[in-house]
Amino acid sequence: CGITGYIGYRDAYPIVINGLKRLEYRGYDSAGIMMFDGEKIHLSKTKGKVSDLESITTKEEERKNGKIGIGHTRWATHGVPNDVNSHPHSSQTGNLVIVHNGIIENYDTLKKELITRGYTFKSDTDTEVLVNLIEEVKKTEGCKLGKAVQLALNNVIGAYAIAVFDKTKPNEIIVARLGSPIAIGVGKDNSEFFVASDASPFIEYTKDAIYLEDEEMAIIKLNKGIKIHKINDDSLVDANIQELQLSLEQIEKGGYDHFMLKEIHEQPKAIVDTYRGRMLPDEGIIRMAGIDNHMNKFLNAERIIIVACGTSWHAGLVGEYLIEEFARIPVEVEYASEFRYRNPIVTSKDIVIAISQSGETADTLAAIKLAKSKGAFVFGVCNVVGSSIARETDAGAYTHAGPEIGVASTKAFTTQITVLSLIALKLASKKGELSKSDLRTYLQKMQLIPTKVEALLKIDNKVKEIAAVYKNAKNCLYLGRGFNFPVALEGALKLKEISYIHAEGYPAAEMKHGPIALIDENMPIFVIATNKGHYEKVVSNIQEIKSRAGKIIAIVTEGDTQVKEIADHVIEIPETEEAFTPLLTTIPLQLLSYHIAVMLGKNVDQPRNLAKSVTVE
Ligand code: G6P
Repeated sequence: CGITGYIGYRDAYPIVINGLKRLEYRGYDSAGIMMFDGEKIHLSKTKGKVSDLESITTKEEERKNGKIGIGHTRWATHGVPNDVNSHPHSSQTGNLVIVHNGIIENYDTLKKELITRGYTFKSDTDTEVLVNLIEEVKKTEGCKLGKAVQLALNNVIGAYAIAVFDKTKPNEIIVARLGSPIAIGVGKDNSEFFVASDASPFIEYTKDAIYLEDEEMAIIKLNKGIKIHKINDDSLVDANIQELQLSLEQIEKGGYDHFMLKEIHEQPKAIVDTYRGRMLPDEGIIRMAGIDNHMNKFLNAERIIIVACGTSWHAGLVGEYLIEEFARIPVEVEYASEFRYRNPIVTSKDIVIAISQSGETADTLAAIKLAKSKGAFVFGVCNVVGSSIARETDAGAYTHAGPEIGVASTKAFTTQITVLSLIALKLASKKGELSKSDLRTYLQKMQLIPTKVEALLKIDNKVKEIAAVYKNAKNCLYLGRGFNFPVALEGALKLKEISYIHAEGYPAAEMKHGPIALIDENMPIFVIATNKGHYEKVVSNIQEIKSRAGKIIAIVTEGDTQVKEIADHVIEIPETEEAFTPLLTTIPLQLLSYHIAVMLGKNVDQPRNLAKSVTVE
């Protein structure tokens, strides 16, 4: 979910609404806004997107009045997405209003207790329980709002980022965080404040931001300032104001129809930005402070465990192939959600690499905490600077992909692979597994990747033609081997996510152990068959498909002749080192999913049921 709010001298409505639109990547199954006009609270909420919320508020202009507002865009956890379950939620008296991102796990017990004290509930949400709990505490303890929020949160088990407004104290907003992010934008001389799940909603108003840490709450008072203290006790915390690096144009579409397409096209630059300053191809040097400063740990590691979710997990799998191939260190790749709950064997001799675009994925964050508690050294590969995972890890390397807004991850994936390639090559060279001159050759080839991606983006029309042929398929298979097996998984995930066509990724040779039963003349099969990666074996797999009348769309290396003869369609990628081919083979698969989704009229940037930043377990 995304939350945002404003208190100050400007009209709050456009700030909150535009802020919610920027936060829709965090969830978009319902949206709501509270406006306070100085006397009355106006609560508007609806199932659907922020644009649907705008249409209901437009019917009654008075709903937009006021200099104070808080809003929410939801990704449902407790309670189906409908108008009533949408946030903000108000307390029984109507005085308190809350927006919440996260889950209150003990809401049922708290709710039963509140019911015995005479509370009734309109929604099925855990959030309505929390706002009433705050109200009850405020009443029974006779304390101020800040204290009531603190006492209530100390009775809560779960995760949250919240913003609370009290009609009887209209000059303040209280925010608190445990597990879900909160940024506070600070206006000149405390004349206005912004709160949001990330800084994008207030980027055009202020560059001064404070990021709350876990277990902190802030009392924001207009014209007075911000007081931050711990939730568990009253100890004060210094407000650390940071200067934002984000720019407005970075988070706008820049002439593209969709963020996803823009982000696909940004990949050449994103890859350069990720390796710039880190690799010196002619000298054969890779500089990564996060590794250099802890080189002994890496050299003595008995094992590397990669934890991640979704697309980042696929990048992790490519990382496994890269690190084992070059650095000869055993690697395991784990879904963060499985890792954290299965009492994993982790010791201080392990290095855990956590990969996350957002740096906020709850399961990945929890996996990191678990690994640290068992003594492992944890290295983060994140895209969002200053995110929770970036801060929780012992060291790390950022992917410099820039903000990724399309829910289907694209440039984050290729930049994660770029970082993992550098890590693998660096460790290989330090361990003496790779000579200086070989390292130089690899880096020179890496340096050519962005131009090759650029060239691949130009075959967009060809990919579009293929998309038109297969857009009505009900099922698709994606096959690859070696470095390109994870690309097959990622290709299938992209198609599923945005076009809702069922797709499976498989290691090409495993096809005959099951999926082959599905093949008939209606089944498109995307096969990655680059010329070095077990080429002959993949060609045999393609023959097996052909004999069962499956439709073959092959991704081959430029100049290929053998596969061309068998496949129904081929897409050529420029020649490069086999280890770097995922950076190229991924591109046509991203474009293909994009075009199919557009042709089917799906919402590319905001596919149903998904969210970009999943801050619940
Ligand atoms: C969500 C997103 C995916 C993403 C995954 C992990 O499910 O929809 O695109 O790969 O979370 O996110 P992270 O930010 O940790 O990479």
